[in-house]
Amino acid sequence: MVLTGHPHRLSGGAVGSVMKAAPSGAAFFAQKVKSRIVASMESPSTSLEFFDDDYWLSHEDYLTSEQADFDVAEILSLLNGASGRLLDAPCGSGRLAARLSLLGFDVDGVDLDPRALKLARSQQRGLSQKVHYFERDLRALLELGPYDVILSWFNSFGYFSSEDNVELLRSFSSLLKSNGQLLINTLDLHVVQQVLSEGALSEELTVRGRTIGSTAHLEGSRLITTRVSTGLSEALEKVSSVELFTAKHWIELLQGLGFSDVSVTKRSQPSLGDPVAEITVQATR
Ligand SMILES: C[S@@+](CC[C@H](N)C(=O)[O-])C[C@H]1O[C@@H](n2cnc3c(N)ncnc32)[C@H](O)[C@@H]1O
Repeated sequence: MVLTGHPHRLSGGAVGSVMKAAPSGAAFFAQKVKSRIVASMESPSTSLEFFDDDYWLSHEDYLTSEQADFDVAEILSLLNGASGRLLDAPCGSGRLAARLSLLGFDVDGVDLDPRALKLARSQQRGLSQKVHYFERDLRALLELGPYDVILSWFNSFGYFSSEDNVELLRSFSSLLKSNGQLLINTLDLHVVQQVLSEGALSEELTVRGRTIGSTAHLEGSRLITTRVSTGLSEALEKVSSVELFTAKHWIELLQGLGFSDVSVTKRSQPSLGDPVAEITVQATR
């Protein structure tokens, strides 16, 4: 079974095509590398440093305009006619924010990465309808809003400690207008457990002279992805840790936080592998 970067993207950050126990990946990780650990298991969070050049490079084949169009179509269909103010958090390079703005939403985009925001801003030069971009940590959103829609797309939730992840959901709730909608695109812990039941996954990808190897495994409910890049003056190791929930847990959690109409839908995209790990969680404030 191929767990491609598109369907499963087991890290929300895992790179390209992830294949079970790819021998080249094993060899890759066996080699002695001088590594720089950016995040470690002692700090159960995903540091911004994980989203470096290698991250974006390794997602180039996924983050196409066709994929963004597909994502926006799914978002619109779930929103079922909703309009007004929308928060894209985090927005990355604004691939969804820009499209949703052109479709009439009044969009704020938040991301902590100044380079992603610079790209996002540069891409809307000359447009009359602009996204308002904010360089901001997801844990510091409180003076924004209120919003009709809040979007957390492309496995962008779960980067922090469990307490801070729940706190982020609370802040989403307080930023939403009454009847506002929350949409979170993430991975189903249950499916990821099934997929990883035989052990860690590994992959290796060569892009523009860089070899990027990645392994993913679960530690409890956290998906840990280790990425090692070579082809630079020294090998670089980065680790992400993303908290995942089962569909049942999402429903209980969001209901407990006062949301209603909580639903969890599996993504349906022809290229998705089997089983499909990607889910979209939707809830009303
Ligand atoms: C997987 S990307 C997804 C971006 C966007 N949602 C999309 O669909 O293209 C995750 C983004 O989270 C941002 N990020 C990571 N940690 C963050 C934090 N603490 N606060 C704000 N943004 C953060 C990264 O800079 C990166 O752009």
